Amino acid sequence: MTNNTFLVTGGAGFIGTNFVKFLLNEDAEAKVIVLDALTYCGNIKSLSAEIESHKIEFVKGDIIDRQLVATLLERYTPAYIVNFAAETHVDRSLDDSRPFVRTNVEGTLNLLDCATAQRRAQLENGKESTLRKFVQISTDEVYGQLEIDCPEGAPLSADTLSKLCREDAGVTYGSSAFTETMPLCASSPYSASKASADLLALAYCRSFGLPVAITRCSNNYGPYQYPEKLIPLMINNILLRKPLPVYGRGLNVRDWIYAEDHARGVYAVATAGRVGQVYNLGGYSERRNIDVVKKLINIVASQVDDNAGIDESLISYVGDRPGHDMRYAIDASKAIDELGWRPLTSFDDGLKATVAWYLANRQWLNDIVSGDYLSYYDKMYSNR
Ligand code: NAD
Ligand code: TYD
Repeated sequence: MTNNTFLVTGGAGFIGTNFVKFLLNEDAEAKVIVLDALTYCGNIKSLSAEIESHKIEFVKGDIIDRQLVATLLERYTPAYIVNFAAETHVDRSLDDSRPFVRTNVEGTLNLLDCATAQRRAQLENGKESTLRKFVQISTDEVYGQLEIDCPEGAPLSADTLSKLCREDAGVTYGSSAFTETMPLCASSPYSASKASADLLALAYCRSFGLPVAITRCSNNYGPYQYPEKLIPLMINNILLRKPLPVYGRGLNVRDWIYAEDHARGVYAVATAGRVGQVYNLGGYSERRNIDVVKKLINIVASQVDDNAGIDESLISYVGDRPGHDMRYAIDASKAIDELGWRPLTSFDDGLKATVAWYLANRQWLNDIVSGDYLSYYDKMYSNR
């Protein structure tokens, strides 16, 4: 019988949750174990239906815990380890980078070590190694920033549009995009910690034969995202008629991908990606921050019953983020050509679906945006 066991770390976070739901839908035979420390952004309620119906096993624990990880590997002998667990918010990493080094570097190192120890013991005992892939979930931020050399936006090439089988006219704000062979040039403590983890993962592949593959994805949006990141933070503030804090002049560009499209890419890399390879994944949906915020105002206003006070007067330009990367854009040709993957959700459709999800799940949001969240918000935004 094929071993279809997935150990998904950080599965109670935003993308991990989307991945677990995608996986259960895609592969009815998959056995899924989620290991998550439930830090401030992990939310067990996002997976309550899957836990209650015994579709997954949930283990609360830290990826840095050697004993726990070794025990889980021995108990479940996963064919796939997919590591989403991380500290993920750039602004928090500027405030205190130590938790980022602890989880993103030391935690990943512990997973690599434990997986390598299990593989070695299996091979020494004349058995086949059970691990087929260790997928390290990384980010495009490890490449640093790109220039904006088309400030008004230039159309995507016909070649790109045909590769994506897309008809809507996308734009790009620069002539370059990240490719997998670019040097790592991280700007923030967050991205530096993710770049370190990437290098360790590739080193464990080369030195010890661990079957590692890495995904580097652009900015995700969709259901279940913690409201400290741009899109859910703005949705929450719009609903509360609170000021919408746009950093600098709002001209920084991000390439947005719907989290379900990312999840599909991760699954493709886990099951069909080549060992030792890095795969970029992106949405081919570049947008300036200010345009995203204005679009959100319109979408929320069109979806709520009472939209009084929901307009662009809510926008508040605030001090810029230190070292703020100007532009991210992904060239995902390798994943598209090799794995037959491509992003399927347009930014318009994805954003409407995201707003609809937050409106339908107001309780999920309200449970978060009180207590500690308010202290975080005051600390981060009061002196901008
Ligand atoms: P998230 O912050 O929503 O979730 C992170 C999860 O990891 C949480 O459930 C948290 O409880 C868990 N976690 C944190 N520390 C842990 C530890 N020490 N042990 C076990 N669990 C721990 O993050 P996300 O946005 O879902 O990102 C997931 C991964 O994708 C990260 O590795 C991130 O770098 C990467 N990524 C994110 C984006 C994005 O736009 N959000 C884009 C590209 C890549
Ligand atoms: P974010 O969601 O934090 O993702 P990342 O920094 O990983 O790209 O931010 C996306 C963009 O939005 C980034 O350019 C910073 C900007 N931003 C704001 O202008 N205001 C905000 O309140 C936040 C959270 C982000």
